[in-house]
Amino acid sequence: MQEKPAVIFESIFEQEVFNGLTAFPKHLSSKYFYDEKGDKLFQDIMAMPEYYLTDCEFEILSEHKAEITALFTKDTHKINIIELGAGDGKKTKILLRYLVEQGINFVYSPIDISQNALDLLERSVKEELPEIEINPLQGTYFETLETLNHRNGTKNVILFLGSNIGNLLHPQAVDFLKSIRKLMYPEDLLFMGFDQKKNPQTILDAYNDAAGITAAFNKNVLVRLNSELEANFEIDQFLHWEVYDPETGTAKSYLVSKKEQQVFIKKLDLSIEFKAWETIHTEISQKYDDKIVNWLAEEADLEVLTEFSDSRQFYKDYIFKKST
Ligand code: AVI
Repeated sequence: MQEKPAVIFESIFEQEVFNGLTAFPKHLSSKYFYDEKGDKLFQDIMAMPEYYLTDCEFEILSEHKAEITALFTKDTHKINIIELGAGDGKKTKILLRYLVEQGINFVYSPIDISQNALDLLERSVKEELPEIEINPLQGTYFETLETLNHRNGTKNVILFLGSNIGNLLHPQAVDFLKSIRKLMYPEDLLFMGFDQKKNPQTILDAYNDAAGITAAFNKNVLVRLNSELEANFEIDQFLHWEVYDPETGTAKSYLVSKKEQQVFIKKLDLSIEFKAWETIHTEISQKYDDKIVNWLAEEADLEVLTEFSDSRQFYKDYIFKKST
């Protein structure tokens, strides 16, 4: 055990890095993969042949846009499409384009923590689909959702795509769903992507690609510690390692120290010792089946209205409503 220093943390980032790297076993949160470079690497991951998730969701939205739209627009004259963590909106635009073509009255409200991501998204939506009323909202998901809680006859449809929920452990996922439910009206819908259990090799390949893009993405957290906290990690002395447990459906990413080494993080005035082959756990990417999804929904007082799958049954989008 290392002693807690008399450092006053300047951010939650600093505090979580300190706690994670002085814990046993060591861990860092995957939310810290995403700076400008991490965002770009994630875009590259989504374009990789091995990362089937994006293509599957693209297929689902393309093939089922009419049925999805019918459910979204049922019993209302106007919908508000609220997207949590919209990214580049590539998949969402399939739905948005269809809504425009069908003359549906709607507003698109993407929510993201990054103003830069929102600016880029707004620009591309305005270019590609100028008819759309877009209302970008910068902030954390729940604080921002709360501000949308008043409305006049508009039905909210909340989108959370990309199996982003998979980066949460089950108890956190239940809390996340409960927080969304609290902000939903009885007529509102939640549309969410859940990557499914499948051949373990397919999953391992998606998280350990031949070109090493996922490895660079995982290691980006160390690159950030070097630049933002003045650490001196030798990035090449860590190995990207992926494991998948087909029983629980949990894929886990690690960074493994290739040798005994010491790293100093100047901004935290902290020395960290690594034994040879010691790990830092960085991410979980949970895989699901209907039973787990229904259990999560039940725990959060939601129910599955319907679901859509791709032709290979690799991935599913579920529509939830509040339980009555
Ligand atoms: C954002 N999230 C759903 C991705 C996933 O599949 O867990 C992040 C990712 N990590 C490695 N590859 C992609």
